[in-house]
Amino acid sequence: MLVMAGLTAPPAFSTVPAATAADDKALYTAEELAAIYRHSPLGQPPPDSTDAVADQPLAARLGQTLFYDVRLSANGRVACATCHQPARAFTDGLVVAKGLSTGTRNTPSLLNVAFGQWFFWDGRSDTLWSQALKPIENPREAGSDRLHVLHVVFGDPVLRAEYQDVFGPMPPLDDHRFPAHARPDPDPDTGMNSAWRGMAAADRVAVDRAYGNLGKAIEAYERRLISGKAAFDRYVAGLRSGDAAAQEVLSPAAKRGLRLFVGPAHCELCHAGPGFSDGQFHNLGLPRLQHAAMDAGRADGIQQLRADPFNSAGVFSDSGGAAAAAQLRFLPSPESMLGAFKTPSLRNVALTAPYMHDGRFATLEAVLNFYAEAVPSDHEYGIGRREKTLKLVPRLSAPQRQDLIAFLIALTSPPLPPALLGPPPPQCGCTAAAAAATAGPSRRSRRCSVSR
Ligand code: HEC
Ligand code: HEC
Repeated sequence: MLVMAGLTAPPAFSTVPAATAADDKALYTAEELAAIYRHSPLGQPPPDSTDAVADQPLAARLGQTLFYDVRLSANGRVACATCHQPARAFTDGLVVAKGLSTGTRNTPSLLNVAFGQWFFWDGRSDTLWSQALKPIENPREAGSDRLHVLHVVFGDPVLRAEYQDVFGPMPPLDDHRFPAHARPDPDPDTGMNSAWRGMAAADRVAVDRAYGNLGKAIEAYERRLISGKAAFDRYVAGLRSGDAAAQEVLSPAAKRGLRLFVGPAHCELCHAGPGFSDGQFHNLGLPRLQHAAMDAGRADGIQQLRADPFNSAGVFSDSGGAAAAAQLRFLPSPESMLGAFKTPSLRNVALTAPYMHDGRFATLEAVLNFYAEAVPSDHEYGIGRREKTLKLVPRLSAPQRQDLIAFLIALTSPPLPPALLGPPPPQCGCTAAAAAATAGPSRRSRRCSVSR
């Protein structure tokens, strides 16, 4: 409830430090204020015990190289950064992603991805490193295979040295036991699959371990993609300190939107915490799109996660063990999660159009119109059961929707440091002359011999 100016009784939040006349704290109830504080500051991502190199700078450097390296793909033209473009907050601006061919889902931002517990819209990966292995072999994305990728790293002296610095020796990929291309394939009759089955079991494990390591390096890079302070964070810092001038950073509309968000609009039921996501899965009852195949969302994701040899409980996980196994055992039944998708973060959402798992909404207006109209009235929706908690989201008037959008725009942060937005710069220790002397089309040139 709003605490009106001029009340004689002391407001419920009178224990907070004395506020100046213009301090916005007077605008909010104690409850609202506590809710606002839960969203900022962003802080640091939790450690990842499944990836022993998650916070190692050398691993992050290798991962950063791999992230921008088109050689990992089947056609030599697709890198992670093809779809996760740094200049677009690590999205691609497309409705659904396009790699070797067109996919079915929208490319999510990678900013702050390290705060998550489940990855992909359907959470079919439970670690960032195991996530990174999927697009490499996805026929619609990079369409490649683990043997090819390992041969690329092995054949590049710089990459191989970086790998070995972090993980120790690579498998002897120049031995004929290791074919040029191989991967396990759902279709048993592919040449890739036969080549994979043709390898000795121990060699397959060695390959999987090294392949997993590449994912762990990529994770170390992704963990550094933490967005800086948005206007909203500066505002919350101003609220905490009572600095009325700092509170000017949000427009009145954005402040009204914020109050709606944490209050009557109930957005924070799902878009919770500093990352503006509970990291969980919800069925919003999005209407079925014509011509689109049914997407079971989390229901399929649970089954794929359990079957994934790279999941957190598997042998390639650096912690694994009982806790990870329990996490996977106590997942909800897939049927109950039909049509549920992961709550996206709303930080930088103004930069990541189009929206939803299938990119169906071009603008934030369209998303807000959906929330305003779909709830609480029933309508024909695609799959599964719309979540009941959505009934708490009231019909939002047009001005309320505009206020919410003003607030969402205030979640935009400044760009990351340029050093994170492309392949890593040459190792320090290189002189400019040495770097120029070795410059050439080869990736090798990024690392100077003088640095080793
Ligand atoms: C062809 C475009 C494309 C390429 C290439 C691609 N991605 Fe993605 N990425 C997507 C799409 C689309 C999704 C969502 C797919 C889904 O949920 O099924 C996604 C999801 C993710 C996620 C999960 C984010 C979250 O919030 O759950 C991460 C992390 C990620 N990609 C990292 C990578 C890395 C690392 C690479 C390179 C090894 C890569 N991607 C290559 C399009 C791409
Ligand atoms: C019941 C949980 C829940 C509630 C409540 C909720 N959301 Fe969402 N929101 C989600 C989920 C889940 C998605 C993704 C759905 C999908 O793609 O199928 C989403 C998507 C979005 C998106 C698109 C983001 C993107 O990157 O695609 C925006 C914007 C958004 N919500 C804003 C809001 C606002 C504003 C409110 C309050 C009016 C709100 N949400 C209430 C769960 C929720």
